[in-house]
Amino acid sequence: MQFLRDGDEVLQVPPVQPIHTLTVSVRTRFVIAASGRRGLAGRMANTTIALVTGGNKGIGFETAAQLAATGATVLLGARDRVRREEAVAALRATGADVHPVELDVTDPASAVAAAALVDATYGRLDVLVNNAAVSGGWMPLTGSDPAVVRAVFDTNVVGVMNVTNAFLPLLRRSAAPRVVNVSSSVGSLHVQRDFRGPLGQLPGSAAYVPSKAALNALTVQYAKELRGTGILVNAVDPGYCATDFNNHAGTRPAAAGAANVVRLATVGNDGPTGGFYADDGAVVPW
Ligand SMILES: NC(=O)c1ccc[n+]([C@@H]2O[C@H](COP(=O)([O-])OP(=O)(O)OC[C@H]3O[C@@H](n4cnc5c(N)ncnc54)[C@H](OP(=O)(O)O)[C@@H]3O)[C@@H](O)[C@H]2O)c1
Repeated sequence: MQFLRDGDEVLQVPPVQPIHTLTVSVRTRFVIAASGRRGLAGRMANTTIALVTGGNKGIGFETAAQLAATGATVLLGARDRVRREEAVAALRATGADVHPVELDVTDPASAVAAAALVDATYGRLDVLVNNAAVSGGWMPLTGSDPAVVRAVFDTNVVGVMNVTNAFLPLLRRSAAPRVVNVSSSVGSLHVQRDFRGPLGQLPGSAAYVPSKAALNALTVQYAKELRGTGILVNAVDPGYCATDFNNHAGTRPAAAGAANVVRLATVGNDGPTGGFYADDGAVVPW
């Protein structure tokens, strides 16, 4: 189904993807072998280490590029080996320090294996961007398919918990740990409840919209549980970006949405936690 107004999304069901074993690039393997954990971790002490899930395309890819442009070492998490390697190659061609990490967010073992790899290589994580998501199509509640609802929540909500929990021990070792959950304005109950507004006029959604509302709730719960640890956890609305997610019907480039993500990913230690932000840090109502 297609949304027609600015700020809306057009959704599509992604294909089922095969599961791969954990891999690391030849370059990274060489660096690990040459340096050992301590040596590399020591040399990386002043470099931000950032992981982006679903980094192989769309907003995740642009986020990886923009984080790398700040000087960060970017770990590009993606579930498909070919798409992962192609994305890493494209970013490296620009001079970015980007490394592939196999990561299917729906698989807790995959998240744990990815965290073990990052731990062994860098010893910590500074920035986690939970970007990976699926739409499940725009499915009305009446006659909705519970299997699709479960699949969407498994990626967009439980997947965020899988990855965040696996990487929390590494985030706790960072001097400036940040978690950014890529949400959506459709996940705002306030916006949805405005029945005369552009999003409130849309038909009900059984899966994607509730999953983003749940992600917002999860963001607040993590911020609450991690209060006092220095780990700042925020949700971001990237806006309506032209990506595969909406058959490129979005009204602005993915890079514009990524800028919102990077803003929260690089916020200072006095920055917010448990918030929901859009362009230029504008607060999105829950
Ligand atoms: N585009 C918009 O207008 C818009 C608006 C508001 C919010 N958002 C949010 O922005 C984020 C990125 O969306 P996008 O527009 O960039 O979509 P996209 O181009 O379809 O990218 C989605 C990414 O998520 C990955 N992914 C899906 N399931 C995964 C899994 N189980 N494990 C690992 N990776 C998985 C995909 O990998 P594969 O290539 O392997 O499928 C892909 O890299 C999502 O959270 C979305 O909800 C987008």
